Amino acid sequence: MPMLNRPRRNRSSAAIRTMVEENRLSVKDLLFPLFVMDGSATKTEIKSMPGIYRYTTDLLLKEIEECLNLGITSYALFPQVAEDRKDSRATESHRQGSLYLEAIHAVTSRFPEISMLTDVAMDPYSSDGHDGIVRGGEILNDETLEVLAKMAIAQAQAGSKLIGPSDMMDGRVGYLRESLDDAGFTNVGIMAYSAKYASAFYGPFRDALESAPKFGDKKTYQMNPANSREALREAELDELEGADFLMVKPALAYLDIISLLRDNTNLPIAAYNVSGEYAMVKAAAANGWIDGEKAMLESLLSMKRAGAQVILTYFAKEFAQLKLS
Ligand code: PBG
Repeated sequence: MPMLNRPRRNRSSAAIRTMVEENRLSVKDLLFPLFVMDGSATKTEIKSMPGIYRYTTDLLLKEIEECLNLGITSYALFPQVAEDRKDSRATESHRQGSLYLEAIHAVTSRFPEISMLTDVAMDPYSSDGHDGIVRGGEILNDETLEVLAKMAIAQAQAGSKLIGPSDMMDGRVGYLRESLDDAGFTNVGIMAYSAKYASAFYGPFRDALESAPKFGDKKTYQMNPANSREALREAELDELEGADFLMVKPALAYLDIISLLRDNTNLPIAAYNVSGEYAMVKAAAANGWIDGEKAMLESLLSMKRAGAQVILTYFAKEFAQLKLS
């Protein structure tokens, strides 16, 4: 049958499919989130995230060295803070000598060539398990900004070159930018969690840090999954306030948001392939219900296709270990 257009011609062999491929994943696209805990010579697996561990700082350094040899140059770090160090104002978050600040110092001085995103939010240190100061059941915005600024400056002093405010308080990017600048840290960048949704997909992460809210939920600060124009508004504000990157989180259920931001800003867009997205693939693969490796590659690729330039993913090491090319 004569037919001018036969799209299948461009899919007829592996070689031609490679030739017409519009997007390609590289380990250079990926940022690997890691968890640090107190103690020495220990790592413990997170039950809901098979293959992902909390490391004591000594083993964290070894893990980063191994990952660096696999080509991973970007990381994020989150602390598991002992319950008895938590309080309502997250004072542990800016205490000199704390586990997290010491770990930042150890990593950034040992590996000056890597990029490490350090987390600015109260929840790992908050006895309420919230990202802000709580009063009478309410999450206070402006009072929280002061704590975030102390935290950001302490992290910059410890060696951080890139901070990630993951709290969703209003005005925090501008407040942090100004605080960092005033303290002389004009070269410390901000990767803003701009469109961070109130999501069920954070469950395993909260297991990892034991940081789940002690009451209520995070819906008065994290975004409603029903909204996309609101994401644009958040992104515009973060850009105006001086963000260096904009992030969408979670990634898989929010590919439209990644694409929307991509079309509306010239800043680099990061997508956070969160803990629950990782856990779903791992659980289904463990049951033999899907091919875990293929599902990983397909979902990471979808985030890149949607417009993410950086993908934060717990799959980073596994991806780097594949012999792909
Ligand atoms: C909190 C924070 C969360 C994640 C990163 N920072 C969870 C939350 O908002 O409760 C989730 C990351 C993941 O699920 O992988 N500041």
